[in-house]
Amino acid sequence: MIPQRKREKCTHAALANADIERARGGDFREAAECFVDAFFVNGKSNIDNREIGSLERAQTSDLSKRYSSAKKGAMFIVRDDETCDLLACAGVEYRRYLGDYDYENVPNDVDRFSLGSAITVPIIANLATSRKARGKGYAKALVRECEKEAKNNGFEECALIVESTNSKARSLYKKMGYRVAKTLKDQNALKMQNDGKARVVKVTTLLMKKSLLNQRQGIDVESLIVPIGAAVILYVLSGNDDLREAIFGFLGTS
Ligand SMILES: CC(C)(COP(=O)(O)OP(=O)(O)OC[C@H]1O[C@@H](n2cnc3c(N)ncnc32)[C@H](O)[C@@H]1OP(=O)(O)O)[C@@H](O)C(=O)NCCC(=O)NCCS
Repeated sequence: MIPQRKREKCTHAALANADIERARGGDFREAAECFVDAFFVNGKSNIDNREIGSLERAQTSDLSKRYSSAKKGAMFIVRDDETCDLLACAGVEYRRYLGDYDYENVPNDVDRFSLGSAITVPIIANLATSRKARGKGYAKALVRECEKEAKNNGFEECALIVESTNSKARSLYKKMGYRVAKTLKDQNALKMQNDGKARVVKVTTLLMKKSLLNQRQGIDVESLIVPIGAAVILYVLSGNDDLREAIFGFLGTS
């Protein structure tokens, strides 16, 4: 039976047999399931169900924390018109920085006043389309919705992080106008291993950015995003000087 839901549809995208909505409440658990299956499991059959359950719980809590308050960010989801199944998700989060430090994690022994003013950067993350729904333009529509949200909140640029080996995602971001601002080697990322367990490994990631000003529609700008997963984004953003430098660099606020 199809659940009766009061939907808040977004006006932006015309999708075949699906709608974009703003995520809230129980949507975060479903989005976490979609993300874990698309990003971590991605067709592998040897994964322990307990590992999946634990990743899903961690993701649910992380997504709710990051995207529940419109001041801090937003998550968008695509649901099938008929079945209401959640098919895809993506989020944009406004992260604050104080000097070289993530605002929330300035060490106690550092004088906050000596670090200047905080800046905020919209980061697109947690993009995933369930395997059965790929190739229908859902990811593209979700990234556009995140950009629109950032622009409506006064931001002029968006940034994202993608693993260098993720060719599908890189192709998508390139087509949407994102360009590589910095290559970051030896970044910590949570990845599923051959034994069916998720572990932190070192990967190369790309910081990509895009101006939200003067966007041409329909040309190669349209065709002119890590999370990488939330876990990866958090690892990278919390402890990497190169990345912070790159983010501040492209915003011209070093
Ligand atoms: C990457 C991902 C989100 C794409 O989702 P999707 O809904 O199938 O993407 P779309 O249909 O909107 O396709 C948009 C573009 O993505 C790229 N793309 C999608 N599937 C692709 C594939 N199999 N091979 C190469 N490029 C592909 C193409 O550039 C495509 O544009 P086109 O249709 O004009 O060729 C999906 O494959 C996924 O969930 N992957 C696992 C999770 C992940 O890697 N997330 C991104 C982390 S940074």
